[in-house]
Amino acid sequence: MRLRTPLLALGSLAFLGLAGAQTLPPAPDVIIDAMEGALGRITTYRPSHGKGYCATGHFVGTAEGGRLSVAPVFNGQRVPAIIRFGVGGPNARVSDTARSTRGLAIRMETPAGDIWDSASISVPVFGAPTPEAFVGGLLVRSRGANGAPPDPAAVAAFVAANPNTLNQGRWLAANLPPASFATTPYFGVNAFRFQGADGQVRIARWVFEPRAGLERLTAEQLNTMPADFLADELRRRLSSAPVEFDMVLQFPGEGDDVNNPTIAWPDERPRIIVGRLSVTEVAAGPGGACDPISALLLDQEPGIALSDDPTLAVRAGAYAVSLSRRTR
Ligand code: HEM
Repeated sequence: MRLRTPLLALGSLAFLGLAGAQTLPPAPDVIIDAMEGALGRITTYRPSHGKGYCATGHFVGTAEGGRLSVAPVFNGQRVPAIIRFGVGGPNARVSDTARSTRGLAIRMETPAGDIWDSASISVPVFGAPTPEAFVGGLLVRSRGANGAPPDPAAVAAFVAANPNTLNQGRWLAANLPPASFATTPYFGVNAFRFQGADGQVRIARWVFEPRAGLERLTAEQLNTMPADFLADELRRRLSSAPVEFDMVLQFPGEGDDVNNPTIAWPDERPRIIVGRLSVTEVAAGPGGACDPISALLLDQEPGIALSDDPTLAVRAGAYAVSLSRRTR
């Protein structure tokens, strides 16, 4: 584990429980070091959703969106968007049939310069309930300092102590991958605080629902589709019409844990459509306008703030360190 500055070193020791202060979450460098340790050194690709395609489009908030959030992106005007569709994992050459998440990252920027970043996945749950479990899961699956492979007994003990870390893998095992970037929902997974025009703050999670409907690969297609079919399929769709998603907010009910992204809220919880995303163009190949940016998920906007979900708090810092390493 590389420790870069005294501040980060303190964060690391506290995280490991060696400095007596157990409350600090792992520092951004520590998180990215752990990702590199388990997944490989970051080159030019993202360590998560390394394979991806840039696209462009726009977002228009609904009247309900404007009521539920004072963020300028919901003011009903057309907001230009830089979009990235991704395939889960660090491997930029992974097959599009992989049983992993598909990703939708969006940077919206209003003509007045207000920016809102989001990143969502095709699975309703994340693979770790806390940053500590995220890093712990990576460390236990990394090679040791002497190159020794991960110890299966240590992995089993980690999983037994952190059973929620299996929730995402279970969902992926039970659901075939999407047949198109345009036919899967993309879940924000973490809860956010939305401040409405009435001044009230409401906790919600979002999902981008495909207007084209839900379609997954068949078991046969899983073995026959080419490795890079998703971008071609999206280009074919876009040659005739935009690909659209409704942005829906889902609100928690009694007993729902708002700070644990490994557990989905029940489907019957209230849902409201707050906007529509239209994807109009996709880049001809890998690379493009989305590559030098990262979905930083900061409180950039009045009207959309982070919740107390501990995994959310560490994302912006980790994404910034990842961006700096992949563009160094
Ligand atoms: C402990 C929590 C998390 C950590 C440490 C983490 C870390 C990262 C990092 C380092 C990247 C690469 C960023 C870049 O280089 O630009 C990334 C990308 C991504 N993450 Fe996370 N992540 C976390 C949670 C989540 C969750 C809960 C979601 C689901 C909504 C998610 C969805 C994505 C997506 C879609 C991308 C690709 C973004 C793009 O295409 O630009 N991540 N993550």
